[in-house]
Amino acid sequence: MIEDCKLIAFPQKGDERGHLVIIEGNQDIPFEIKRVFYIYGSDKDVIRGRHANYHSEFVLINVSGTSKVKVDDGTTQKIFNLDRPHIGIYLPKLVWKDMYDFSEDSVLLCLASEHYDAGEYIRDYDKYLTVMKEEENAQTS
Ligand code: TYD
Repeated sequence: MIEDCKLIAFPQKGDERGHLVIIEGNQDIPFEIKRVFYIYGSDKDVIRGRHANYHSEFVLINVSGTSKVKVDDGTTQKIFNLDRPHIGIYLPKLVWKDMYDFSEDSVLLCLASEHYDAGEYIRDYDKYLTVMKEEENAQTS
C-alpha cells in the first residue's frame, strides 16, 4: 500500500518563453480528474490533511514553493518532499496523509478522482486503523 504512493514527473514543454507542465487525466496520472483544489497561506507549523479517504485518489503538486507529505498505511510511514512544480505525489485511496512544513510561497495543487463527499473522509486515526484491520482481514479470508 505505502509502495503505491509514488512521485510522478509530468511532461514539460518549456521553451525560451517559460515553463509549461502538462497533466492529463488517465494519461499522466492513473485517474480521471473530477475535482481540483489548492491550498496556500498555511503557516509553517500547520499540519493539514490528517485524514484518509474511502474512495478518492489524489495527486498533490507544489506548483509554487515547497511542503512535505507524510503518508501512512496503518503499518508504515513515509515522507515525501514536494519541491518542484513538475513533480507530484500519487496517493491511492485509504492512505492517511499529513501535509506540513509549508513554505511561505507554497501553493499545493490537489487533483482528486472524486467529487467532494465529506462522508468518504476518515478523520479519526483510531477509526482509520480499525478500517485498515478490517481491509486486511477481508483480503486474507
Ligand atoms: P479539509 O479537508 O480539512 O482540508 P485539508 O485536508 O487540506 O486540511 O477541508 C477544509 C474545509 O473545506 C472543510 O470544511 C471541507 C471543505 N472542503 C470542501 O468543501 N470541498 C473540498 O473539495 C475540500 C478539499 C474541502
